[in-house]
Amino acid sequence: MVANKENQLYTTLNNGKPMPLLGLGTYNMFGEVAINAVKIALETGYRLIDGAQMYANEKEVGEGIRRSGVPREEIFITTKIDNCNQGYEATLRSYEQSLKDLGIEKVDLLLIHWPIKGQREETWKALEKLYADELVGAIGTGNYLLPFLHELKNYASIIPAVNQIEFSPFLYLSEELDYCRKNQICLQCYTPLMRGQKHNHPAIVQIAQQYSRTPAQIILRWAVQQGLSTIPKSENPDRIRENFGIFNFELSEMDLNVLNNLNENFRIVDDPIDML
Ligand SMILES: NC(=O)c1ccc[n+]([C@@H]2O[C@H](COP(=O)([O-])OP(=O)(O)OC[C@H]3O[C@@H](n4cnc5c(N)ncnc54)[C@H](OP(=O)(O)O)[C@@H]3O)[C@@H](O)[C@H]2O)c1
Repeated sequence: MVANKENQLYTTLNNGKPMPLLGLGTYNMFGEVAINAVKIALETGYRLIDGAQMYANEKEVGEGIRRSGVPREEIFITTKIDNCNQGYEATLRSYEQSLKDLGIEKVDLLLIHWPIKGQREETWKALEKLYADELVGAIGTGNYLLPFLHELKNYASIIPAVNQIEFSPFLYLSEELDYCRKNQICLQCYTPLMRGQKHNHPAIVQIAQQYSRTPAQIILRWAVQQGLSTIPKSENPDRIRENFGIFNFELSEMDLNVLNNLNENFRIVDDPIDML
């Protein structure tokens, strides 16, 4: 992990490319609200924007990027192949459409959104082709729990740079975390704020009070301080800024440990294991 001049933390992916650990999630934001959220996030200092074909707002994400005035080369842009676009040819075609909608020449990270039964190998091969042709900066997986990662090893020539899964103190998937660490895959936490549902948990409240920070800042700091990427969504300018305010304090080892031991298998999104 390294810090840039604003102390924002970056990781180095397994292909040598840098990626900011904190990004803006863009699920469930639309129209001018989405454009504005992306623009404000970039003005605030965010340099990673997590998008997806499924979110049906790639045009707005692209517009927000342009309106921010931040140079393209400073921004790390992710998109994901939608479930209905999986398979070899459909992946290639839909990626072209994403680039048109975003108004850019390549994304920095292309993920398989979900491990769809019967499509996983062909979709991964298409991502490998795009990577070999230098049409994407890096490739990775989404919702790949351990069985999917083991299966991928049988046919993949490239190890994913990132695995984006639901992960939080309350859904602490230690087997996936160990596997990602051993294989130099960056684990990226989605739904990291649990959509607010655990912000009143006594352990979170207590640590937040101790550091004079908000529950969201504690949960986000907990991730980046351990080298995990995290992509909170907010369309509210104050909360976008609040969520970025995590680079000027440190949690103690003891508090990290408290947070690492809150697992309740608490999920917001469907369990990907049903895709096996
Ligand atoms: N790969 C996948 O399958 C997958 C699945 C789910 C999500 N994701 C990605 O992960 C991103 C984040 O996950 P998410 O959007 O599901 O949930 P989240 O980031 O855990 O929570 C977002 C919710 O929390 C609110 N919020 C944001 N900041 C807050 C703060 N500081 N205090 C209190 N509430 C706050 C937001 O409201 P406001 O907007 O009003 O602030 C929104 O309702 C998504 O946007 C998407 O990019 C990926």
